[in-house]
Amino acid sequence: MPKPQYYIGLMSGTSMDGVDAVLVDSASGTPTFVAAHTEDMPAHILSGLQRLCVPANNEINQLGQLDRNVGQLFAKAVNALLEKTGIQANDVIAIGSHGQTIRHMPNLDPSFTLQIGDANTIAALTGIDVIADFRRKDIALGGQGAPLVPAFHQQVFAKANQDRVILNIGGIANITFLSHDNDTVIGFDTGPGNGLMDAFIQQEKQLTFDEDGLWAQSGEVHKPLLTQLLSHTYFAMEYPKSTGRELFNRDWLEQQLANFGQIEPADVQATLLDFTCYSIANDIRRLTSNGEVFVCGGGALNPVLMTRLQQILANHSVSSTADLGINPKWVEAIAFAWLAMRFINHLPGNLPAVTGASKAAILGGLYKAD
Ligand SMILES: Nc1ncnc2c1ncn2[C@@H]1O[C@H](COP(=O)(O)OP(=O)(O)O)[C@@H](O)[C@H]1O
Ligand SMILES: [Mg+2]
Repeated sequence: MPKPQYYIGLMSGTSMDGVDAVLVDSASGTPTFVAAHTEDMPAHILSGLQRLCVPANNEINQLGQLDRNVGQLFAKAVNALLEKTGIQANDVIAIGSHGQTIRHMPNLDPSFTLQIGDANTIAALTGIDVIADFRRKDIALGGQGAPLVPAFHQQVFAKANQDRVILNIGGIANITFLSHDNDTVIGFDTGPGNGLMDAFIQQEKQLTFDEDGLWAQSGEVHKPLLTQLLSHTYFAMEYPKSTGRELFNRDWLEQQLANFGQIEPADVQATLLDFTCYSIANDIRRLTSNGEVFVCGGGALNPVLMTRLQQILANHSVSSTADLGINPKWVEAIAFAWLAMRFINHLPGNLPAVTGASKAAILGGLYKAD
């Protein structure tokens, strides 16, 4: 047995539901899952982050403090993970930390993206070197800074002579298309994932998410609303493209609903679920007429959403990445452990064809523990 090469990946996506921490062993060259832990997002940090996601006054103090708060939370996730496994901090080569996105503006000139969760704090509180700030090199090279996971998806999920789509349904949804010739990789954000459904059930029922999609299932799809939602200009844009809460958020949804009379809330939720499914399926159909689709992210845990997606993509097979041996909950965090390994080994992390960057580059910066 070769000596283990432990890395930790830390991910908190647009859903802001919690910090996913995974420990992997990369001795074989690709990461093998060892253990995972999710640290729930405390309410006071969540409300601070939600405030910061929209322009307001006195943002710099809030930003500075939340940067530290989120760093502390990420470190807590790592320390809980290590405690679970009995593995020591000095046995871990590095942490790859995505941070928490609070603004993603790939189409401004100049463009920018901002993730917080102070990596110095994570390094100080865990005693492990941290690689962070993965997106901004790609932005500096003219790319979208997103999505970054396709290179990882290609490495672990590609299969010869088979079209595959890896579909991550977090707050936002993104796809990686791995063509049967093993040559072409296409990746971009398709649009909303669970985010609008989360926002709507939060507003109507004060719940953080629609567990198992049951509320959506109880409603009827409102066809005119669905058609209007699908007419958003984002869907007509060519890739490379990426998006976030900046486009698909509660305010936008309110504006859309204002064009109609009263719609039953359960019907709105049913329509939002279909909106997510159709926006994803339309893009997948353009890439492959009958490939295999493997879903990861929280959306894979919503059976109503998974069933609907399979109905709409009748010529494709839809299942979760569990069928490929990786629990859908941990794929994204494992990708950031992999990106840390790429940095340590001086290897690029982005795919220019995906992000639009002028070249492949080593992504991230190193924050030493000592
Ligand atoms: N059992 C479930 N039923 C329905 N939705 C779920 C379930 N489990 C998770 N989710 C959805 O997944 C989201 C979290 O997905 P995640 O992949 O962590 O997103 P992000 O990367 O944006 O944090 C939750 O906000 C929720 O909407
Ligand atoms: Mg999450």
